[in-house]
Amino acid sequence: MQTLNSIVFGWYPYLCLTVFLFGSLVRFDREQYTWRTGSSQLLRRRQLMWGSNLFHVGILIIFVGHVFGLLTPIRIFDWIGISHTFKQWMAIDVGGVAGLMCLVGIALLTHRRLFDPRIRANSSFGDTAILLILFAQLLLGLATIPVSFGHLDGHEMVKFMNWAQGILTLQPGAAAYVADVHPIFKAHLVLGMTIFLLFPFTRLVHVWSAPVWYLGRKGYQVVRSRNGSHAAGSSQPAE
Ligand code: HEM
Repeated sequence: MQTLNSIVFGWYPYLCLTVFLFGSLVRFDREQYTWRTGSSQLLRRRQLMWGSNLFHVGILIIFVGHVFGLLTPIRIFDWIGISHTFKQWMAIDVGGVAGLMCLVGIALLTHRRLFDPRIRANSSFGDTAILLILFAQLLLGLATIPVSFGHLDGHEMVKFMNWAQGILTLQPGAAAYVADVHPIFKAHLVLGMTIFLLFPFTRLVHVWSAPVWYLGRKGYQVVRSRNGSHAAGSSQPAE
């Protein structure tokens, strides 16, 4: 059991991180224009707009919360005077609200992709699969909230911080921090690492474009107008 824990939470993270970094580098370097929406952007536009906006706002808040929450050294929270209980409540409140926004958004996006035959026919296996994986990950994340109510002093949260920081600072034995956490957390961590592993092979690579292209971009982008002619801004990648 201990060996399995070491493999899953001690070795697997490095496999995922390596594939994530090198895979993204290769994809961004050599195939930058291969991630795009196809023409499905023109179908069910209102549903796409609401779904996409809610999903992206929610997931960005979750992302920032996860990065700061997991990777800020605990002594910095102690030094500023943020108690573990307060931080646990923040994760529940902010993460919970953002998670619900993201949930409504991803439900709209999934419904649009799976139940409109034209969009479904236009979707690659990878597009649909990664959407469903994110959906599952979000549900697992939300399912951790009731579990967290059982330890509001934040002691479980500290284990996740020690694990994540231990992995990123190459500490052997970091896996032991999460050996006895609730299975829902374990499932959430494993699927989270797997998302890193799959990242370069899916449309998620567009996330890297954000810092590179989006800052200099004007307005909302339409890739092709209804009558088929190209609209303003179409010279840039679609996502
Ligand atoms: C490697 C990637 C990920 C890791 C290591 C991770 C880790 C965690 C941990 C440790 C918690 C519990 C926080 C606490 O209560 O102390 C959590 C909660 C949560 N996660 Fe993740 N997560 C990852 C990816 C994701 C993704 C991609 C999503 C969304 C699709 C997500 C959504 C949530 C939500 C909604 C919660 C509950 C609210 C919160 O505590 O923020 N997570 N995650």
